[in-house]
Amino acid sequence: MSMKKNMLRGKDLISIDHLDRDIILSIFKTADKMKKIAPKKALNILKGKVVALLFFEPSTRTFSSNCAAVKRLGGQTIEHQNPTQTSSVVKGETIEDTIKMIEQYSDAIIIRHPAAGTAQICARAADIPIINAGDGIGEHPTQALLDMYTIYEKFKTLDRIKGLMVGDLLNGRTIHSLLKGLSIFKNSTIYLLSPKTLRLSKKDSAEFSRRGIKLIEINDFDDIPSDLHFWYWTRVQKERFSDKNEYEKLKLSFILDKNLVTKKAGKKTLLMHPLPRVGEIKTEVDSDPRAVYLTTQAKNGMYVRMALLKMILGA
Ligand code: CP
Repeated sequence: MSMKKNMLRGKDLISIDHLDRDIILSIFKTADKMKKIAPKKALNILKGKVVALLFFEPSTRTFSSNCAAVKRLGGQTIEHQNPTQTSSVVKGETIEDTIKMIEQYSDAIIIRHPAAGTAQICARAADIPIINAGDGIGEHPTQALLDMYTIYEKFKTLDRIKGLMVGDLLNGRTIHSLLKGLSIFKNSTIYLLSPKTLRLSKKDSAEFSRRGIKLIEINDFDDIPSDLHFWYWTRVQKERFSDKNEYEKLKLSFILDKNLVTKKAGKKTLLMHPLPRVGEIKTEVDSDPRAVYLTTQAKNGMYVRMALLKMILGA
């Protein structure tokens, strides 16, 4: 095992910024191995380890794929979904105290929380590794890893990648983490398409440009180039709106349908979405071989999380 790999052992993962190019590529290499081995063989890499999942926001994929990852590695889980109603948080326990308690029973904590910055607060409170499974509009580093792995697996590189990001670019933590992740590699060009009020913030735009990503804002489907490596659709994030009428107005601003794929997607363009979708991708697109959101992209989440847990916790 290289020094770079060893650098993950016992560490938190709060932001994709905690990783560099070599570490990301070694996570992918380990994920490749997981993908080959795990369907055939039960592993005992996490035998005797307990991983706690604390999800203060709903989740289908991140929760289930992390649970599956721990179990497929031979470990066990403590699972709290909705701790605001089911744990002593309901009695007023602070997040720091909750984390300090869960730390007594487990070897790592995977946390999702509606407030940006909470994963970092937890990391300060705990001595065991904390993995950010999404903190409000902040970051979702393991989602970025699985998205990048899906692109890397197809094109064998993350340099000079050209992509399209569509939807709620202001509030989408998966967008923020994926842009950060791509900026660790060289010369990406990303086309951005969103309702005006949901554009990437000026601060984020300036930051990602400074990091070397060429950002090109477009206004409609006609401006999408035909040679992109990926399209990354996202939903408008209802839970981040105080005005629900505004959400209703914007939620279906950009719909991905078969007609658009036929007109604008390249032969190899990956059609991606972190999910859940709420109408912005028509189900008629699902059977297109380029559509990976319900299949490869989601499944890669489990293998990437297996790789990460092995590297952070494995013997
Ligand atoms: N992609 C993602 O984070 O999905 P969940 O909210 O279902 O975990």
